[in-house]
Amino acid sequence: MDRPRITIFDTTLRDGEQSPGCSMNVQEKLHLAQQLDRLGVDVIEAGFPIASDGDFEAVQRIAAALRRPIIAGLARACTGDVDRAWQALQGAAHPRIHVFLATSDIHLKYKLRITREQCLAQAREAVRHAKSLCADVEFSPEDATRTDVPFLCQVVEAAIAAGATTVNIPDTVGYSMPEEYGNLIRTLREKVAGIDRVTISTHCHNDLGLAVANSLAGVQQGARQVECTINGIGERAGNASLEEIVMAMRVRPDRYPYETAVAAEHLFSSSQTLAEITRVPVQPHKAITGRNAFAHEAGIHQDGMLKNPLTYEIMTPQSVGVPDSRLVLGKHSGRHALALRCEQLGHQFERRELDEIYRKFVVLADRIKKVQDSHLLELIQDVVKGNVSHSDAADNQSKKFPPATAALPFQRAAAANANEPHPAQVSGSAGQAQPRPVCPAPTNWFGGASVPLADHHSEQEDYLWGV
Ligand code: KIV
Ligand code: ZN
Repeated sequence: MDRPRITIFDTTLRDGEQSPGCSMNVQEKLHLAQQLDRLGVDVIEAGFPIASDGDFEAVQRIAAALRRPIIAGLARACTGDVDRAWQALQGAAHPRIHVFLATSDIHLKYKLRITREQCLAQAREAVRHAKSLCADVEFSPEDATRTDVPFLCQVVEAAIAAGATTVNIPDTVGYSMPEEYGNLIRTLREKVAGIDRVTISTHCHNDLGLAVANSLAGVQQGARQVECTINGIGERAGNASLEEIVMAMRVRPDRYPYETAVAAEHLFSSSQTLAEITRVPVQPHKAITGRNAFAHEAGIHQDGMLKNPLTYEIMTPQSVGVPDSRLVLGKHSGRHALALRCEQLGHQFERRELDEIYRKFVVLADRIKKVQDSHLLELIQDVVKGNVSHSDAADNQSKKFPPATAALPFQRAAAANANEPHPAQVSGSAGQAQPRPVCPAPTNWFGGASVPLADHHSEQEDYLWGV
């Protein structure tokens, strides 16, 4: 039987960007949007066009550039905002206007200073106006989880009657508990007329560390869209983390039998791209994309891993795009290996650019022997920004990059095929794991052993290409 399909609505560029230290310029937003497109998200919330000219331009540029995903622009529930969002979305192949209005008494009384009746009328009117412009309209009752439930049902029903096609239920302040959030979604499905015609969406903040759990509870009760961000960035403690939601469904289809269109092998590079753009590092212990997420240091764990990876591993690093740890970058590495690692770190280069990076890489590798990902990212930055001339590249590199450090925590070597399901995800006897090769060799940042993998053909081409 087909599994229900969950729409992944990425709001890294809007709610994520509201996170302190995470603001991005137009160029950076466009770059990240292209990565999100590669990742396969269904909806990209590209910004809040009324908020600033930069936000407007970012939405406009992303809408013009990406043809596959739905591009959403956020608007408060008023004509000016909705019009501005629609203007920014003009070039989009699949535009969506996302209208929001707070509905909790605390927001109505202290923030908006309006009555429930005024709130209801304003929501209805704004959605109606958005619908007159755009077929795809999402409505969010902000602070839904602290809203009086009968009133929430009334507002959601009015928004649907006015033309909303998606209703999003934000846990704006991260207050809800999983069971409670799931029950709220169920209640809306039971009580709101017309709800069967629209998509119900989750939007959970992480103030109590429950954003992912709440989102999954919402899905179990019938939500079919999840709003989330890369690395879980967002206001205060952040939003639900996209990579955790997607992998929870992949690793535990017995509990969460749902599909997404996300290409999980691009999760790591998406996380790296964001961290690099914002210069906000990923927490080492971050699930899925943190640098320790697949590291095994304790002797007992290493022993188990050597005997059978199933002992301590529920998914392979390769399934989420963590670079092949056997592929160590040193002065003997070729352009193919370099290009692959750049890609895994979220950078795709044309031949000429790669050529330049390669020249600088060789100078660096000669000096420091083993080039770590952090070194490579700095080098990429230099080339992308064009702030290092050929003549002083080596000099700058020697100042900037210390020699590669000693081995970091043990990590097991890569499985041969990134797309191969992890044995833990396969049920029945066919899923019984065969012990896979494990390499306890000295490691780099990702635990790489010291045997470069470049095959003969790629080396041949590396020799012939542009040297
Ligand atoms: O958290 C929230 O309520 C929001 C809305 C604008 C959807 O981000
Ligand atoms: Zn939010």
